[in-house]
Amino acid sequence: MRTTSRFAGLLAAMLMVVLAFSLAPSHPASAATSAAHRDASLRQLASRLGIRVGSAVSLSPLSNDAAYAQILGQQFSAITPENEMKWDTVEPQQGVFNFAPGDTEVKFAQQHGQLVRGHNLVWHSQLPSWLTGGSFTNEQLADILKQHIFAEAGHYRGKIWQWDVVNEPLNEDGSLRSTIWSNALGPDYIADALRWAHQADPHAKLFLNDFNIEGIGPKSDAMFALVKSLKEQHVPIDGVGFETHLGLQFGFPSMFKENLQRFADLGLDVSITEIDVRMILPVTPELLAAQADVYTQVMQDCIAVRRCVDFTIWEYTDKYSWIPGFFTGQGAADIYDENLVPKPANAALLDALQHPVSHQHHNG
Ligand code: XIL
Repeated sequence: MRTTSRFAGLLAAMLMVVLAFSLAPSHPASAATSAAHRDASLRQLASRLGIRVGSAVSLSPLSNDAAYAQILGQQFSAITPENEMKWDTVEPQQGVFNFAPGDTEVKFAQQHGQLVRGHNLVWHSQLPSWLTGGSFTNEQLADILKQHIFAEAGHYRGKIWQWDVVNEPLNEDGSLRSTIWSNALGPDYIADALRWAHQADPHAKLFLNDFNIEGIGPKSDAMFALVKSLKEQHVPIDGVGFETHLGLQFGFPSMFKENLQRFADLGLDVSITEIDVRMILPVTPELLAAQADVYTQVMQDCIAVRRCVDFTIWEYTDKYSWIPGFFTGQGAADIYDENLVPKPANAALLDALQHPVSHQHHNG
């Protein structure tokens, strides 16, 4: 639903609740309300607002952990392959493609009415050694990149909702990150990649995705200038992904909502693509409550910006989170714990979706 306002569907739902009350006056209102929502899933509640709630997914738990897969299917309306569409998996040898892991995840999504975020086509990380260790000319690298994009986006043509076409193109100061791609093709590699991806899959929404662009600052300013210039050049770009890897020790990004809104005002979709909210271990009830507040705030900001279409958690459960392996002494960043039990952050998200705070920005 994304008609005149994201709140239109919600109003309809509320009308029905009011109707139900008047038809069944013997039930106390509060009991009826909680009964109506008791079993509502994240995906159901979010769909009334035109938002997909997603999770990153890895092949191993998807295939081997039935309880994990069941929650993934029930609660989420989008998935992002956590590693299975990255270059080192997809093209382990030059011109030799391995789409089987990603295909399995796409099939799961199709069976569960979920959309897929393709992640990613161009990045400086998780590249195969034939590529990083090879000695290619700039011309050859340009051709390798083009072939890779055509092969991967072509393979998944028609099956991907949003592609992260270029992942993490910027440095913290806002300058263009020096990578194998920017060095070989120059700064226009981003426009080239978007154009090639569009040719390979004309219906996929094409995104740039980065971290530490949630608040307003030099890096988000640079992303803003970049996508504004791409739009002005009529390069096919549809959205910006905000990774949103937050930590309780860092505080909340400044002016998150205003930042999302300025990108939306360029005519772009905005997505929360990889949210997790880590903490310095051990877990305490206070930290879990603070974490729930951060998840709530991000969801409220997404709800407030009409073009915020996706809220994807970077693996919904602490059981399979990347955080402990990458940030020593930190973890517990997700909304289900290591036993797949919902955490306070889960209840907080359900609550934020049930009781959205209307802002002036739903200007559809
Ligand atoms: C991470 C995965 O979660 C890990 O399993 C992998 O070892 C490294 O990459 N930004 C991104 C994601 O865009 O692709 C990264 O995913 C996390 C940071």
